[in-house]
Amino acid sequence: MARSALLNVMVAATRKAARVLSRDFGEIENLQVSKKGPGDFVTAADRKIESILHEELERARPDYCFLMEESGKVEGKDKSHCWIIDPIDGTTNFMHGIPLFAISVALQRDGELVAGVVYNPATDELFVAERGAGAYLNDRRLRIAARTELEDAVVCCGIPHMGRGDPAQFMRELAAVQPRVAGIRRTGTAALDLAWVAAGRFDAFWESGLSAWDMAAGIVLVREAGGMVTDMENNLKMLSSGHIIASNDGIHPALHKCLKSAAA
Ligand code: IPD
Ligand code: CA
Repeated sequence: MARSALLNVMVAATRKAARVLSRDFGEIENLQVSKKGPGDFVTAADRKIESILHEELERARPDYCFLMEESGKVEGKDKSHCWIIDPIDGTTNFMHGIPLFAISVALQRDGELVAGVVYNPATDELFVAERGAGAYLNDRRLRIAARTELEDAVVCCGIPHMGRGDPAQFMRELAAVQPRVAGIRRTGTAALDLAWVAAGRFDAFWESGLSAWDMAAGIVLVREAGGMVTDMENNLKMLSSGHIIASNDGIHPALHKCLKSAAA
């Protein structure tokens, strides 16, 4: 698969950061059993990965803006382009030695998401997509799952925890969805959840209370794999609302209706 110059820049930065992230993941096992635990180490890893991505992408495109999980918004001269970065999506998994986490990098142009890269160094799965050019896992073209009935669907979701989000609303949503689907999963990394929807592994994904960097790259992947992504209101304000439903155009409307029926 021949990649565009843009995707080459994104993949090179991601792979460079991932080499450090893989080394750090190897350290986690030791820290896991230490008294202090891996908390501070993970915070430092998050910052380190983010600064590698920042440095590499800034070198390639010096004027672009950045929106990053750790450093927030960093303005550039070119206001029409913004990199949206999550250095480690699935931080809790990473911290617990669970090999489900990813670097997520997206590019927004004039407010539209145009490219996304999600990379899990623990499995060496590189998901890339560019608007109009399709979505790929390593070199394989991705297609959203073909199942169109909710009753056949394995649906992934996010679960609010630690006082975040609206747990009561989530419990209502779960009660509405659970009897109607073939299975429900929760991985702990929204970026990979979306990548896995793009790959047809999950038939659908929904979550509330996300940040833009959790989902920006994954949204491009799902769309380019032929999927449909909206917020809970069936609009396209996922990044600002923090709500997302992603699936194919068969299951999406049914899941959306089901989730809306659970609204308080
Ligand atoms: C988290 C993951 C998780 C989602 C949380 C996010 P982080 O990101 O995407 O799946 O449920 O809402 O905050 O903290 O691991 O980068
Ligand atoms: Ca995240």
